[in-house]
Amino acid sequence: MSLLRHVKIGIASLIFFLGGLLLVPAAESAVISIDATNAGPAINPRMYGIFLEEINHGVDGGLYGELVRNRAFEDSRPPEGYTLQDGVWRNVKGFDSGFSRYGYTTNGVPFWSLIQTGAAKGAMRVETTGGITPQSCYCLRLDAEPAADGRVGVANEGFFGIGVRQGEQYRLSLHARGGDFKGPLRVRLEDANGAPCSDEVEIGPIGKSWQKFEKILTGSKTDSKARLVIEAGAKGTVWLDFVSLFPTKTWKNRPNGLRPDIADMIAGLHPGFVRFPGGCVVEAGSVATAYNWKLTVGPVEQRQERWGPWNYRRTQGMGLFEYLQFCEDLGAEPLYVGFAGQTCIFRRPQLVPMDDMWWVRNNLLDVVEYANGSANSKWGALRARAGHPAPFNLKLMEIGNENQGPEFEQRYNLIHEALKSKYPGIRYLADLSWTSRESMADAQFDIQDQHYYNSSRWFATRFNEYDGRDRKLPPLYLGELAVTTQDAGNLRGNLRAALSEGVFLMGCERNSDVVRMVSYAPLLANVDGRTELTGSPPPWHAMIYFDGTRVFGTVSYSLWKLFGANHPAHCVQTDVSFPNAKPVVVSGQIGLGTWADTAEFKDIHVEKDGKVFFNSDFSTNADDWQPNGGRWSIKNGVYRQGQTGQGFSYFGDENWSDYTLTLKARNTGGSEGFLIVFGRKGGDRYWWNLGGWGNTQDAIEYNQTPVGPPVPAKIERNRWYDVKIVLSGARIRCYLDGKLIHDATVPRQEKFFAVAGPDASTGHMIIKAINLDANAVPAQLNVDHFGPISHTARMTVLTSPGLADNNSLENPAKVQPVTSTVEISGNNFSHEFAPHSLTILRLKAREE
Ligand code: AHR
Repeated sequence: MSLLRHVKIGIASLIFFLGGLLLVPAAESAVISIDATNAGPAINPRMYGIFLEEINHGVDGGLYGELVRNRAFEDSRPPEGYTLQDGVWRNVKGFDSGFSRYGYTTNGVPFWSLIQTGAAKGAMRVETTGGITPQSCYCLRLDAEPAADGRVGVANEGFFGIGVRQGEQYRLSLHARGGDFKGPLRVRLEDANGAPCSDEVEIGPIGKSWQKFEKILTGSKTDSKARLVIEAGAKGTVWLDFVSLFPTKTWKNRPNGLRPDIADMIAGLHPGFVRFPGGCVVEAGSVATAYNWKLTVGPVEQRQERWGPWNYRRTQGMGLFEYLQFCEDLGAEPLYVGFAGQTCIFRRPQLVPMDDMWWVRNNLLDVVEYANGSANSKWGALRARAGHPAPFNLKLMEIGNENQGPEFEQRYNLIHEALKSKYPGIRYLADLSWTSRESMADAQFDIQDQHYYNSSRWFATRFNEYDGRDRKLPPLYLGELAVTTQDAGNLRGNLRAALSEGVFLMGCERNSDVVRMVSYAPLLANVDGRTELTGSPPPWHAMIYFDGTRVFGTVSYSLWKLFGANHPAHCVQTDVSFPNAKPVVVSGQIGLGTWADTAEFKDIHVEKDGKVFFNSDFSTNADDWQPNGGRWSIKNGVYRQGQTGQGFSYFGDENWSDYTLTLKARNTGGSEGFLIVFGRKGGDRYWWNLGGWGNTQDAIEYNQTPVGPPVPAKIERNRWYDVKIVLSGARIRCYLDGKLIHDATVPRQEKFFAVAGPDASTGHMIIKAINLDANAVPAQLNVDHFGPISHTARMTVLTSPGLADNNSLENPAKVQPVTSTVEISGNNFSHEFAPHSLTILRLKAREE
């Protein structure tokens, strides 16, 4: 046995090393036994990828280089496929598009303002015809009357401010035409007080027909909240369209390109693939706004903008071509997701009738020709004209995102059949996150996509998630993964979230024949543009955050990057013994709820060992209950949720455990049954979902993920059911009308995990260990059948004093991995793993 010694220790690891020695009480020891000859299945070299979606202003207002918001003046268009109901733009079933909540108006000029000072006078308005192209037919009219002591013009606020950097250059382009106005226009960037942030350029003379003008602005000071000011230098009327400002240096100098600092962060992940364009962006809230790649190619002025499901209009600037080019520049495989004829199930879905599905199917056939066809083919020629005659070699296609039910299967099959017979070499993916395997029983797919947004506890207890999976089922792509509940704090992605995700990812590596690909979601967020979750704050998180001039990665970013850079060719047998796993006790409040329904509840009774905690009496009020969503009222001793959709009401103590909950419940409307909550604590909750998945199944769920297997079931409308839930420690038993339906046990929370395997190129033995314990864990490592290990090894540690610690714009490097060289002297050695840490050891075989 020999001791692992630090040769070079970064400051952060020194603090932890000392912390481990001096402050933290001695913990029990772990033993990690690695058998290098006992190899598991190969890990996909492209296992770690990214999912890039237009959400959180991640692309428009982020990765895509455009700095002017509403450049084409199309933002006054109402969301396509929505209608105005009670002053709100809603889809046909009444879902609020978010249009009016986020600065959009049909009669104003969103994100533009009139500048008028002193005696100068002016007026601006949008004209809905006469723009530069049929696709961009809206334009801006400015009537100007400047004065000696004042100025008149228009200003664009950008996406939450325009980011300008001192010394950097920006390409301004705009289209203008005059009535009696001949110019000039004077253009510059200004800060919030009107002080210049760039030099000023003059544009003119301006003629009577549209003309494109281009100039370079140079930043004179750094400001992430500047605005672009266009001032009229003379009296008259001028029309503007497609006003654009791009950094001259885009990533890899691509035209219509990407913001370099954000693209560099993504490139740092070395993604194996890029899933695009969504997500909900694929399905959208109406058929007219569902993703149609044909609107996203060709000159940008000829791309038709569309309202997006995340409450803003998409410029389509980063379209299909730019996506495929980005993949190539990253060295990543494209994974294109196509609309499957059903709009988003969380936004009241619409279906493309089966008779009309031809265009949906053709769009997907044509996208393959665009990406892979010869430069002589119809769609391949378009790609060649965009500057890429060689095919992009698209090999992965997903049909639909988070769709549901038999309607999805029918549409999926129609599209898949056409694609498969024309392009048999492509691998097809189906997303089963929100639909049952049974309802896709007749569907053929090569890879199953599955999404998990859940608590840190959920991820941290899923090291063995796929150990028992039936190997005859299609392999998995876990396309959207992230810790999302509040236990991880408002920005998520902190140390606690990251380490929990890491435990889950280790379980994926151990089951690499089952899990072929993984990606975090969402990837990007403008700190000022985070999208609200459908209906419930806080807004969406991300892995990479930015404002106009700064960018940082969360701790999750660092962890996923480390996993991507340190995944072995295959895992080898790695046994960990560590006695520290604490038993789980399901504890917390009770609650009542609905998902897509109305329902009624009565005779609620909670007791433990004969002691009554609660007996409901809804004769006069329900004041002690905490409603959250829905419309709750009492009538004749019954507590009812009367608004079709999601609605919850909670009661009781977070410390309640080992109790028996009994009640009567009945569904009174909607498409499912009802939900009975228990063990609600912090942001986490269990529920028994009766009649879930379109009234086809019952399941116990923890934060919407099943605990134990769901069972087929149907809840009858207007029938009272007797519900009983018995909690004892980690065990949950659920009874309906006296019959035991579920008997499940919540997995124990282990604290210490390790996986190991050889690096494909260097032959290093990579050992990854995660310690979730607040104490350092001393461990004995035994590496067998690897040959003698070299005396030096590389060690990377990701940790921080607080589990809630995260990076920020102000402190982007607060939590960063620290790499050092360490000395070891044999195949059996000891090492102390820092509290709350990921440690990666790279051992080399000794050169004799
Ligand atoms: O990642 C954000 C959203 O979460 C995706 O658009 C959707 O697929 C999921 O519901």
